[in-house]
Amino acid sequence: MFPRMSRKHRITILAGDGIGPEVMNGAIRILDAAEAKFGFTVERSEHLVGGAAIDATGHPLPPETLKACEQANAILFGSVGGPKWENLPPDIQPERGALLPLRKHFGLFANLRPGVCLPALTHASPVKQELIADGFDVLCVRELTGGIYFGSPKGRHEENGEPIALDTMIYKKSEIERIARVAFTAAMSRKKQLLSVDKSNVLASSVLWRETVIEISREFPEVQLSHMYVDNAAMQLIRRPGSFDVLVTENLFGDILSDEMAMISGSLGMLPSASLGRQGDNGLYFGMYEPSGGSAPDIAGQGIANPIAQVLSLAMLLRFSLGENSAAEAIENAVAKTIADGFRTGDIATGRDGETKVGTQAMVEAILARF
Ligand code: IPM
Ligand code: MN
Repeated sequence: MFPRMSRKHRITILAGDGIGPEVMNGAIRILDAAEAKFGFTVERSEHLVGGAAIDATGHPLPPETLKACEQANAILFGSVGGPKWENLPPDIQPERGALLPLRKHFGLFANLRPGVCLPALTHASPVKQELIADGFDVLCVRELTGGIYFGSPKGRHEENGEPIALDTMIYKKSEIERIARVAFTAAMSRKKQLLSVDKSNVLASSVLWRETVIEISREFPEVQLSHMYVDNAAMQLIRRPGSFDVLVTENLFGDILSDEMAMISGSLGMLPSASLGRQGDNGLYFGMYEPSGGSAPDIAGQGIANPIAQVLSLAMLLRFSLGENSAAEAIENAVAKTIADGFRTGDIATGRDGETKVGTQAMVEAILARF
């Protein structure tokens, strides 16, 4: 192994709203420990986003925040939103007004959402035990900057005195090619099975999607490619989640399927995500990393939120944007060990023997002790 030339990195931290700041504190403590143990440094700058930014500046994504993100190798994101800002016009609501512009501005086209149900946590899943006895590990690769979210025309007008609203689901071949390559590459480091999800029995954009994914599959002859319509995929995911490895799909389908996957995995509080943009010559991506679960305003400020999704998001950041793979693996192993040793926040506690119920801080301590 050659030592890496530069082991100084820079990230922007956007903790946001709700449980965001609490779980972010935990992740930062683990980052401190990773620096000390693996001998790299991460310069951090913290900025406002979401509701917190609306309260301070009137805008969910202030220009200073965007600028700080531009100067970093990656963004570690907490979560945004809450009841306080729910009645604002949609475009300046924390979720839409911050997340979608960040994705578009940085071209974060590849959204990786792991849906992992550890064997020790199958009881936290709403799916029948016999269907998930051994747990499961699915990776959803969602296209994030195209499709119906951003297609134009989009909007609302009147025709013959009646309001009409429209959205456009549109894909360029090059957009499909690049997300397909990310998905095949991910499959290569897993079980080499890729499922492409579309609606090519109805949608023209899906016909192009399927054709293009098949073309790209020739670059990855070892990966076994299959296809499924999205309605069927929604059913199969609940019926036999253990049979999925990597699935790749367009923006809106991925939004819906990844929530389904998160639900059946038993705890949103455990699931990280990565949104990747441009890839440098060194193979590292500019990316934004955030828990899948959201701001959970109902439990914010109580010190009981599960910090694991934020901690695992940090691990993904270290791997995909900073190239600190050993540190990423060490964090993931420490988390797995902590779960195996029975530590549980409320969201994953089932009251079984051998469980120790903990809050956010104590969970972080338990992870640090195994790191
Ligand atoms: C997600 C969210 C966002 C999306 C919303 C908040 C705009 O649901 O990250 O999945 O639809 O992409
Ligand atoms: Mn969603």
